[in-house]
Amino acid sequence: MKVLVIGSGGREHALAWKLAQSPKVTRLYIAPGNPGTAQVGANVPILSEDLDGLLGFAEEERIDLTVVGPEAPLVAGIVDRFREGGRLVFGPTEAAARLEGSKHFAKEFMRANGIPTARSETFDALEPALAYVRKEGAPIVVKADGLAAGKGVTVALDVATAARALSECFESRAFGEAGGRVVIEEYLEGEEVSVLAICDGTSFLTLPSSQDHKRLLDNDQGPNTGGMGAYSPAPALTEELRARVEREVLQPTMAGMARAGTPYVGVLYAGMMLTSGGPKVLEFNCRMGDPETQAVLPMVENDLFELFHAAASGGLQAFGPIRAARGAAVCVVLASEGYPGSYPKGRLIEGLESLRRDPEVVVFHAGTRFDESGRVVTAGGRVLGVTARGDSVRAAIERAYRAVEQVRFEGMSFRRDIGRRAIARSG
Ligand code: AMP
Ligand code: GLY
Repeated sequence: MKVLVIGSGGREHALAWKLAQSPKVTRLYIAPGNPGTAQVGANVPILSEDLDGLLGFAEEERIDLTVVGPEAPLVAGIVDRFREGGRLVFGPTEAAARLEGSKHFAKEFMRANGIPTARSETFDALEPALAYVRKEGAPIVVKADGLAAGKGVTVALDVATAARALSECFESRAFGEAGGRVVIEEYLEGEEVSVLAICDGTSFLTLPSSQDHKRLLDNDQGPNTGGMGAYSPAPALTEELRARVEREVLQPTMAGMARAGTPYVGVLYAGMMLTSGGPKVLEFNCRMGDPETQAVLPMVENDLFELFHAAASGGLQAFGPIRAARGAAVCVVLASEGYPGSYPKGRLIEGLESLRRDPEVVVFHAGTRFDESGRVVTAGGRVLGVTARGDSVRAAIERAYRAVEQVRFEGMSFRRDIGRRAIARSG
C-alpha cells in the first residue's frame, strides 16, 4: 500500500515513523516532510496548503491512503477535495473540522449535546465583551474564535489582562479574521490531559492518554508555547475517568456530529481539564497533538496503517482494541533560544547519529532542514523532540534526558521537568 502523510513537523515525523513500521506499507511519502521523515520515507516538495498539488500527486502516484497531520488543510477542506477525487483519506471534512476551526461552533455543539465544558459566551464587538468581563471578574479566559496557531487563548488572572486580550482581538486584529469573534470562558481549575480518539464516523477507539507541557519554562512558568514536552500515559486519567470521558464527551460528540449530517472521521483530540466537578472539555482539535503524538505513538502496539485505514473506511468496529506498551514514553522538546518569540535559524545540530543506535530512543525532527552541504541545521522554534521509552515514567525520563545530553546546537533550550508530575503520581 502507498501512503502519503501531509505536514512537516514533529507530529508528522512520528506519524511517518510509526506508519513505516507497518508491513502493509510498501511506499511512504511525506509532503513536504523534513530531514527526519526522510529517514523513513520519501519527501515530496509540496506544501500542506497546496491542496491542488497534493491531490494531483495522490492521483498520479495512486496513493492508497492519505493521512493529514496539521489542522490548516483540514479546516480548508482537504478531505472533501480528496473524497471528491475518489481518494481514501484519514481526517475530518471541512464541516467536521469546525470543532477546531471555530471555538464558537464547538461551544454551541457541546451545549446542544450536553457535553461538559466551561460556561461561555461569544461576542462580536469589544464593548459588550468588556462589559461581560467586568461583570464576571477574573480569572477568566479569552479565546479568539478561529485558528490562531495556538496563540489565540489568554488565561487572564485579572480583568486588565482580559481587557488587553480583547483589544488585541478586536482592535489590533492580532489574529486577523480569527479574532473578529471572541469566546469568553469560565476559568477551570484542575489537571489537564489530552485524549486522542481515532474515529470512523460512528465509532471510536482512544489512544493512550498524554499530558503536554505548554509553558516555556520549568514549573509551568513563562509564556505559552506549542508544547515543550509530553508524556504518555497520563496517570491523572484513571480508568474510571477515561470511561467518563468516553461516555460523557466522545460518544455524544460522535453521535451529535453524525446526527448533524457531518459524521466525524479522523483524530478527535479532546483537551480535558479534570476538575473537581468531573472532566470538562477545554478544546477540541481535529488532529493529533504536537508533541503529544511523539509520546503517544511509541506506546501504541497496533499497526497504525491498519488502524487509520479501518477508520478512514468506516470499519473501526471490526478492529481489535488499542494495545498499549508497558511502561511510559517521554518526549522532551529542544527549542531555539527566543522561541516562542523570534529565533535564529541555520544552526548546526550535532550528536544525532549516536542516538540512532538506541532502540528505546527516537529523535523526532520538527524545525530542521538540510543545509547546502547536507548537514542538519535548525529551521524552526521547536527543533527536535527526543522521545524515550522506559518500564516506568521515571526510567523514561532518565533515558530521555541522557539522550538530550548527546544533542547540541547553539542556543538549544528545553525544560528540565518534563514528566515530573507523572512521577509524583505513579513513581
Ligand atoms: P487551548 O488553545 O484552547 O488549548 O488553550 C490553551 C491553554 O489555555 C489550555 O491548554 C489550557 O492550559 C488553558 N485554558 C484554556 N481554556 C481554559 C479554561 N477555561 N480554564 C483554564 N485554562 C484554560
Ligand atoms: N500540544 C497541543 C496541541 O497540539 O494542540
